[in-house]
Amino acid sequence: MTKRLWIDTVGCQMNVLDSELVVAALRRQGWQMAQSPADADAVFYNTCSVRQHAEDKVYSALGRVRAEKAKRPELVVGVLGCMAQKDQELVRKRAPWVDLVVGPGQLHRVPALIDGVLAGSGPMIEVSLDRAAGSRESVARSFESYDPDRDPEMRPTPFQAFVRTQTGCDKFCAFCVVPRVRGPEQARPPAAILAEARKLVDEGCREITLIGQTVNSYRWSEEGRTTRLSDLLVDLDAIDGLDRIRFVTNYPRDMTDDLIHAVRDLPKVCHYLHVPAQHGSDDVLKRMKRGYTIGEYLEMHGRLMEAIPHAAVTSDFIVGFCGETDDEFGLMLDLVQNLRFKNSFIFKYSPRPGTKAFQRQPDDVPEAVKKERHRLLLEAQTEASLSGNVAMVGTRQKVLVEGISRRDEKQLTRDGLDGSSETDLQLSGRTMCDRIVVFDAPQRLIGRIVDVDILAAGPWAVSGTLALEGSPQEPALDEPLVHSIAMPTPSGKQAGHANPA
Ligand code: SAH
Ligand code: F3S
Repeated sequence: MTKRLWIDTVGCQMNVLDSELVVAALRRQGWQMAQSPADADAVFYNTCSVRQHAEDKVYSALGRVRAEKAKRPELVVGVLGCMAQKDQELVRKRAPWVDLVVGPGQLHRVPALIDGVLAGSGPMIEVSLDRAAGSRESVARSFESYDPDRDPEMRPTPFQAFVRTQTGCDKFCAFCVVPRVRGPEQARPPAAILAEARKLVDEGCREITLIGQTVNSYRWSEEGRTTRLSDLLVDLDAIDGLDRIRFVTNYPRDMTDDLIHAVRDLPKVCHYLHVPAQHGSDDVLKRMKRGYTIGEYLEMHGRLMEAIPHAAVTSDFIVGFCGETDDEFGLMLDLVQNLRFKNSFIFKYSPRPGTKAFQRQPDDVPEAVKKERHRLLLEAQTEASLSGNVAMVGTRQKVLVEGISRRDEKQLTRDGLDGSSETDLQLSGRTMCDRIVVFDAPQRLIGRIVDVDILAAGPWAVSGTLALEGSPQEPALDEPLVHSIAMPTPSGKQAGHANPA
């Protein structure tokens, strides 16, 4: 009988990709997706350890699945990813009904492990012994044999996919648990990355997002030749059928001119650069061990804006890091007001066991202060985002249509609105600069690149109207669509969308 899997993914794009790969591997063994934990033979949580909150969410989800497991002891409960690696046996101490604990470096073992559990092996824990465990070659082999098998239904959309350039991180920022749970930085060979991209394009992908913890640190040396991210972009840009290339996350110090020029010159590369600054004070950056000063960040930002004046730059910030004073926070506020990022992800500092900050610097900013600084920084960023969006009003933008907007998706599920492909619905897509655009159009345009005239702006999105004359490189609007798009599942849970942790 067919077995059914339900998987919940929290955290970053890496986790979304990992979940896709786990599902692809299990499908090859005949598994199908379940609609809910109640109708599943296995329930997996692909987890994140970056902040305490992300872990708390998983432990409460595990609490909720406990009753189901008590009713059906044969249900396999699995904890995958970063929290599995970080907590190891502790997961089973806190939730003894968990059958499988699998770290991010061992996910290719999930099909064999689940078979073991179903055959009565008892609980299995499979994690890396330490950060350096296994030779680089053996890790690279498992990872290579694994990434190319993909699952279109688990992607953000059938025409957008993530491709990994490297695993792990060697930067060791004082607050960050990633180098510990994801291991050392290891690049994939360029040929493997390009082959995977070509395969995805053959399957109908139009947009590829390269992902790495510090994607712009990518380097691969072979026979005296070094391939950098800029070289990869040149080769990807030449793939017929691919329309858009993006890459995240960038480390400020590795934003070299060759990369900036590649972004400027290659027509398919989006002018969207996520380059987290993390803070606006040199003293805090030093305590965070980020490895650059604000002067250096500003120099990088200046080079970027000079080369690509309309580029959208985005950032991450941590408020309330150990010892953060009012003055230091003020410098971060200034940075956000001055650089006018397209948007920023703002986090309250969460001490993570195993990190340098956790060992050596007290988490001494009170929660109420963190909360207030978070509010103030978000307010400044929202104002900057809004003014950036307002500047788009009156322009015509090329938009990759990603799906039905959240508003109409809700209405469709609630009112059973006519979902035929000809009915106008509010659709949502993105510009080359990663700005979200909503507009009314028939659903059959999902997966296409269309021209939209921008009429109004809010802080999170702009709205507009479909331009009548289609974009020159696009087929006429009445041509049949290549992709048939499945409606997003009502829960969105197993559709591969990560819940922001
Ligand atoms: N290079 C990674 C960073 C992973 S963590 C990437 O792909 O984005 C994502 C963001 O979480 C970081 O940029 C940082 O702003 C935030 N973060 C990391 N550790 C944190 C902590 N201990 N507390 C609060 N925020 C944290
Ligand atoms: Fe984390 Fe810093 Fe690497 S934020 S992922 S240690 S670059």
